[in-house]
Amino acid sequence: MVLLTDKNQGQEGTTPVKRLTIQTVEIDQDTTAIRSLDWNRDRFDIEFGLQNGTTYNSFLICGEQTALVDTSHEKFRQLYFDTLTGLINPQDIDYLIISHTEPDHSGLVKDLLQKAPDITVVGSKVAIQFLEDLVHQPFKRRIVKNGDRLDLGNGHEFEFVIAPNLHWPDTIFSFDHKTQILYTCDAFGMHYCTDSTFDDDLSAIEKDFQYYYECLMGPNARSVLSAMKRMAELKTIKMIATGHGPLLYHNLQELTGRYLNWSQNQTKAETTVGIFYVSEYGYSDRLAQSITNGIVKTGVAVEVVDLSGTVDLQELRELVGRCKGLVVGMNPISSNTSIQTALSTVLGSATEKQAIGIFETGGGDDEPTYPLLNKFRSAGLTVAFPVIEIRETPTENTYKKCEEAGTDLGQLVTKEKSIKAMKSLSADLDKALGRISGGLYIITAKKGDVSSAMLASWVSQASFKPLGFSIAVAKDRAIESLMQVGDRFVLNVLEEGNYQALMKHFLKRFSPGADRFEGVKTQPAENGAPILGDALAYMECEVVSRMDCGDHWAVYSTVYAGRVSKPESLTAVHHRKVGNHY
Ligand SMILES: Cc1cc2nc3c(=O)[nH]c(=O)nc-3n(C[C@H](O)[C@H](O)[C@H](O)COP(=O)(O)O)c2cc1C
Repeated sequence: MVLLTDKNQGQEGTTPVKRLTIQTVEIDQDTTAIRSLDWNRDRFDIEFGLQNGTTYNSFLICGEQTALVDTSHEKFRQLYFDTLTGLINPQDIDYLIISHTEPDHSGLVKDLLQKAPDITVVGSKVAIQFLEDLVHQPFKRRIVKNGDRLDLGNGHEFEFVIAPNLHWPDTIFSFDHKTQILYTCDAFGMHYCTDSTFDDDLSAIEKDFQYYYECLMGPNARSVLSAMKRMAELKTIKMIATGHGPLLYHNLQELTGRYLNWSQNQTKAETTVGIFYVSEYGYSDRLAQSITNGIVKTGVAVEVVDLSGTVDLQELRELVGRCKGLVVGMNPISSNTSIQTALSTVLGSATEKQAIGIFETGGGDDEPTYPLLNKFRSAGLTVAFPVIEIRETPTENTYKKCEEAGTDLGQLVTKEKSIKAMKSLSADLDKALGRISGGLYIITAKKGDVSSAMLASWVSQASFKPLGFSIAVAKDRAIESLMQVGDRFVLNVLEEGNYQALMKHFLKRFSPGADRFEGVKTQPAENGAPILGDALAYMECEVVSRMDCGDHWAVYSTVYAGRVSKPESLTAVHHRKVGNHY
């Protein structure tokens, strides 16, 4: 394996704000990885916080004919084409294999086709359809199905594996029989930017590998299992060349084994919610993803079905049958018959014990808005959140609203279980635990346009140097997604004898996306989070680390500024009788 180049897009002598570099490495015979390294990217979709940047990997395979597997993000346009043309004249590329059409991998397809219009694009039927909308120009194409082969000569015979929903409906894997490399794009990837081409350091990458799985693959655990079953039919796989992060080589068995375990556990989960949506409408993918994130926060498994893909109606019935909650994302005026049939199947298999939530994308203002919800309601289902109607380009607030709606649904379907768990403590222990007391605080946070708040009493100083404290934040709190490592927030201290109104306000049940500060006197702190006018003191804080404590995160933060407004007053204290609630 030979490192060929390592180029930097920043100007010499200056530190670029966003560091973009590119690495080309010969990873096997006739096979070069072109890895676009996006060191500083801190967000992938609004809800997916990244701590270690990411990479977009593309691969060049030269047999007698030449194939390029995926391209890169458009932000790498100059660097990517400089690098590619250093390796090959783009017009000499015969095939462009599209693993899937998400812009971070296919953002430069249009440019490539303009430079080399004779390239044949190879992809699944859905990918080719998506691509037509993306490039707006005729191009040569070859649609592949599971098991189809493409011979580049010189032993490089590619075999294709259909892997829908990993994580887009159009995904294919490509296996080179000569090098035994499987190209999987999003699957088995991770958002982790490193100069190491491979997974040499398992302990460094495993957390990001798992986080990525949970965000993107877990909701499609069944599709992961189907794809892995197909992978098992291939000859031995020596390396998995993913689209994000280091390639799997040293720990291939271990990491694929984890995918298998997680997916098997996920499909065995006690409580599952099914999300049934149509990806071809606007922003449905990301809306469904945000709702998923909100549900997963409550410890409930999610299975996502794209009704615009190939749907087995029997499997659909079986899935709906075992779900405790359903989410349907539709365009209200969809007339596609196969989508309508799938939707009728969902409706026909739903039962009154389930909860339902609907989101609608597209459609005009004059469209009838709630007929679908009414149908589910008539079937006896409980409505988990008000219909989310998306008529305009979603904003960060829209995605946050979807996340909160998902959490409400998750909480609804686990309510009985939570009450049971609460009552399961022995009375003595419960009372003893209740003697642990705390103060009363309101945590406030603002990230971009999204703000949130919560009342907290599980707050305790944790260090002098640096000045730091911990807060236990329930995993399903709305504010939790604004308290990732590096996020800033304000700790407002409530005053003895003067906390009731604020406590009452912030304990209200807010509907998804509601402005929690309406009617509350605030002023912005330097970090943007609201300082409450009636707080006794406030501190500006930054999250340093988070420890998994079962149903809560212990969030350790440092304090870098603060002020007391009423030096003579005391902090409000919260005494409890029992320890099974706050
Ligand atoms: C006295 C009291 C103390 C609380 N302390 C905490 C806490 O330390 N951590 C936490 O996650 N939730 C705590 N809660 C619960 C949340 O404040 C409350 O349920 C929340 O505002 C609603 O959840 P949401 O923001 O996710 O909608 C406390 C609740 C009460 C009544």
